Amino acid sequence: MNIFRTKSLDTAMAASRSQQGLKRVLGPLDLVLMGIGAIIGTGIFVLTGTGALTAGPALTVSFVIAAIACGFAALCYAEFASTVPIAGSIYSYTYVTLGEFVAWMIGWDLLLEYGLATSAVSVGWSGYFQSLIAGFGIHLPIALSAAPGAIPGQVTLINLPALLIMLFLTTMLSLGVRESTRLNNVMVAIKVAIVILFIVVGARHVEPANWRPFAPFGAGGVLSAAALVFFAFIGFDAVTSAAEEVKRPERDLPIGIIGSLAVCTILYVIVAAIMTGIVPYREFLGIDHPVSLALQYANENWVAGFVDLGAILGMTTVILVMTYGQTRVIFAMSRDRLLPERLSRIHPKHNTPFFATWMVGLVFGAIAAIVPLNVLAELINIGTLAAFSLISIAVIVLRRKRPDLPRAFRCPLVPVVPALSVLLCLCLMAYLQPVTWVAFVIWLAIGCLVYFTYSRHRSLLNTVADENGEAAPAASQV
Ligand code: ALA
Repeated sequence: MNIFRTKSLDTAMAASRSQQGLKRVLGPLDLVLMGIGAIIGTGIFVLTGTGALTAGPALTVSFVIAAIACGFAALCYAEFASTVPIAGSIYSYTYVTLGEFVAWMIGWDLLLEYGLATSAVSVGWSGYFQSLIAGFGIHLPIALSAAPGAIPGQVTLINLPALLIMLFLTTMLSLGVRESTRLNNVMVAIKVAIVILFIVVGARHVEPANWRPFAPFGAGGVLSAAALVFFAFIGFDAVTSAAEEVKRPERDLPIGIIGSLAVCTILYVIVAAIMTGIVPYREFLGIDHPVSLALQYANENWVAGFVDLGAILGMTTVILVMTYGQTRVIFAMSRDRLLPERLSRIHPKHNTPFFATWMVGLVFGAIAAIVPLNVLAELINIGTLAAFSLISIAVIVLRRKRPDLPRAFRCPLVPVVPALSVLLCLCLMAYLQPVTWVAFVIWLAIGCLVYFTYSRHRSLLNTVADENGEAAPAASQV
């Protein structure tokens, strides 16, 4: 059995077109809002404080560097999404280009990225939620407020709000994608309005003297901060996992990917400039609500309250869209029989992968409830950067293997742009901590084990080969 066998692109497209179950209900605006829903969250509302401490006011440049890395990858995603609009995002794209083993590993990598991102963001959500209700004098019993061991010197048992938000969003997602996107669209509109409110109010309080010195920790500080705030951009790729639920995927997916990334980049750079213009960067030490702190610093306390609300809504939509992306990747992997078949069964009434959705909600809700997850951002970043590098390589491969395919959107300057994308991603990965690399390698090793002991033998490609009476490796070609 050749582990580099590829799935036939034409068969994959035909299977996707004939797929009964997932309904095509999403348009371009839904996708842009879905992208913004997954992007604006913990990164801007929580991590910018640490980012400012690492880069100084040059945090704006860090955001631009991270945005360029994502922008190059987004162009590659957009080409793939417009050429091969099938569920499963980069997992499906690599299956038809780089082969089954690479596809499996990238799918496994996406499970880590989306799964841990939902758990980590739920924990951030819980922190903001508890501080909001504390403002009304409501306090949760300490035992129910955090995972065991999360608060030194306190007996904590479970992070109940983190679990409850996961269960609520899982319920929404399992009931239907139309209902979930409606909820998403309303929350995204409110959170973007609140970010714009911050910009309008905050701009009046900027002291340009706070921007000097601009880069107190030099290029190293700027790049380390870029590797961290990269987290703030993660999520636009989840748009591609909706491919089989979009009315005109060839046109609308590139609009969703590039549109949401462009809007968020502009907002982030302005927010970072204003934050560091109001508050001297050193004062962000130990602060986990840097955006609202800037407004409190400027005595705009009522707007600061709105920003906290924006953060809660922001994180809610990140969890919603990431959980959605996760379930669609699992759906695609299960449809190819690399994961148990039950995970791709569609609910007859709600037209959603009901079982997969609840499995994801329960597993990652439980992780959010009982594991202290403060330091996961870097692990999520390394998984995403690896995925971005692979999609860039896959674009070059597909151009060579299938130049004939109609491409509604073409990534410019291939192979230069994809090559720059890989280089930038590797450069940012190099700035992550060694412990992050170790954890990532362990996760990939477990993935290898599962593939060789389970998935490889059950793969749908074996069946195709058997039915045709062919040797498995010849099962298909791109
Ligand atoms: N980009 C998402 C966030 O910042 C993951 O929360």
